[in-house]
Amino acid sequence: MCHNHELDFALPPFNSMSDRKILVTSALPYANGSIHLGHLVEYIQTDIWVRFQKQRGNQCHYVCADDTHGTPIMLRADSEGITPEELVAQVEKEHRADFDDFGIAFDNYHTTHSVENKEFAELIYTRLRDGGHISKRTISQAFDPVKNMFLPDRFIKGECPKCGAKDQYGDNCEACGATYSPTDLKNAVSVVSGEKPIEKDSEHYFFNLGDFTELLEGWTKAEGHLQPEVKNKMAEWLETGLKQWDISRDAPYFGFEIPNAPGKYFYVWLDAPIGYMASFKNLCDKQGLNFDDFWGKDSDVELYHFIGKDIVYFHALFWPAMLTGANFRTPSAVFVHGFLTVNGEKMSKSRGTFIKARTYLEHLNPEYLRYYFAAKLTNGIDDLDLNFDDFSQRVNSDLVGKVVNIASRCSGFIKKRFDGKLSASHSEPELFKLFVDANESIATYYEDREYGKAMREIMALADKANQYIDEKKPWVIAKEEGRDSELHDICSMGVNLFRLLVAYLKPVIPILAENTEDFLNIEPQGWPIAAEPLLSHEIKKFKPLMTRVEADKIEAIVEASKENLIKATEPKAKTCDPIAETIEFDDFAKIDLRIAKIIKAEHVEGADKLLQLTVDIGDETRNIFAGIKSAYAPEDLEGKLTIVVANLKPRKMRFGLSEGMVLAAGPGGKDLWVLSPDEGAQPGMRVK
Ligand code: 2FM
Ligand code: ZN
Repeated sequence: MCHNHELDFALPPFNSMSDRKILVTSALPYANGSIHLGHLVEYIQTDIWVRFQKQRGNQCHYVCADDTHGTPIMLRADSEGITPEELVAQVEKEHRADFDDFGIAFDNYHTTHSVENKEFAELIYTRLRDGGHISKRTISQAFDPVKNMFLPDRFIKGECPKCGAKDQYGDNCEACGATYSPTDLKNAVSVVSGEKPIEKDSEHYFFNLGDFTELLEGWTKAEGHLQPEVKNKMAEWLETGLKQWDISRDAPYFGFEIPNAPGKYFYVWLDAPIGYMASFKNLCDKQGLNFDDFWGKDSDVELYHFIGKDIVYFHALFWPAMLTGANFRTPSAVFVHGFLTVNGEKMSKSRGTFIKARTYLEHLNPEYLRYYFAAKLTNGIDDLDLNFDDFSQRVNSDLVGKVVNIASRCSGFIKKRFDGKLSASHSEPELFKLFVDANESIATYYEDREYGKAMREIMALADKANQYIDEKKPWVIAKEEGRDSELHDICSMGVNLFRLLVAYLKPVIPILAENTEDFLNIEPQGWPIAAEPLLSHEIKKFKPLMTRVEADKIEAIVEASKENLIKATEPKAKTCDPIAETIEFDDFAKIDLRIAKIIKAEHVEGADKLLQLTVDIGDETRNIFAGIKSAYAPEDLEGKLTIVVANLKPRKMRFGLSEGMVLAAGPGGKDLWVLSPDEGAQPGMRVK
């Protein structure tokens, strides 16, 4: 990079075209849920920025990955009866399809459950450890005695210690807003087993974040690293002092085992940001890029992380500290955005405003949403509201009514009257120049992530183009004798202005831009820094580039999202015993289950729980003592078909030999039900 330092000094960075090297990331989505419109604010914001950089000719790489580790993913896989690896593979496929269809053009999409990530997590950890930045200490935590695992706060439910509200999570009460520790909950139960959690000690590994206080004070305050609002928040946190960060979790845990610490795993948040590096390393291996140029201590490549405001702590404190402690470079900046609200409120499953990416895609053009978000995005951390009326109105009036309309108004005449060929003369050099000159300020807005301002400037140009056409009235001229060349010039200018508008909108609506390039019969448009009009150029037949948003489609999305609620699999307290460990088929085949007919049932003297049964199992009869007296009278059983374990080792009891076991279900007492086969089954038949 040293050859162009001179240029870097002479011009603001965005003007030094094509010599910038940039690495960009978006936060890694968890692999235990679908992508929804809330996520998309960030991916669309980042994707627009990356497309803009590429269109400017900069070398820009955009990487992401699925964030695959942790307890929720492990438990979800468990409840679906698949391995975590299978679950994350399924979800990755779904995520990739959603991103693709929204035009999110990652240069690489990877997974945190990868060889690269394991290597980097181990490398960073060992460097931190060898640098003296890791401590060990025993802590006490809630433990599920049935499932044999430590419970994250979110997997404990009980009554709020403050207001008594039932069914509250272990960290805070949704009814009164109180925050507490899970041990404060009354009548706490494990969400996983329904059992009462116990307290258990275990040794944990900690990252000594405090060792990096000075570094972080410098890094967070330095110009350009953080937005002002975020900088202030960091100053508050730094003032209260940095605590050690617990980076280990005990088995069972889906993640990477910590080197030289059997049974201890890296906490998901330790290896998640490392996933940025891992995904990029994976890209380097595919494309022959030099990893160290980007991540080495002295790298002068620009590195940007786009994230939501809920995960600033991890990216602006832990991450720069980890990187520094492990001898890597720190980010050039962390760009934080706010949350998405829908119609002014938090997204809600019951209102149908918790909308999955896929649900949206089934009904509406993804570029509507890309444009709408762009029109509302700033570089601040305020929440962004998706208002459905505003959404339709904006897309219809701006994209369809203003931009696409220019092409449809002009190209018909070009096709019909001039054989599809644009005029040879440049009739409005001033107007055209105005459009080209706007490139600098539009670029500055994109560069600064002020997309709303960029969209307003582009739409102001679109208004100018429409005014021009309105004034010239080609539809009137078209009917008048001898004004052909005038008509030709006006419509050609309209098409040329349209082409520039689309060049400016290309980062936001890439598909429309591509279809436009096809229709105009031109090469992919770069940033129109010194564009010239197309003269005597043949264009193709106009085809509608975008249709209006239909209101009933929005209603359909909201309806479909309401349905999602019923299907949603929120963790809830379990009411049944947990499913036993998986067995091989061979294990099952060892159990010889037979249809049995109860020929006699009698009370047993001196036994208050047992009934003595004589059962016919085909070629023999058996004597079985069954603990079902609390639920059955002997006369109810005689003549009944049931199922018995026929090869259970006979058991000598006080009252005689029991030669098998009758199958029954239920907690006990009156609630006990003997199993019986469907009609037709005969004594002695094997159950398999
Ligand atoms: O908050 C989340 O959804 C996390 N999965 C983000 C991880 S970002 C990065 F650090 F990996
Ligand atoms: Zn409460």
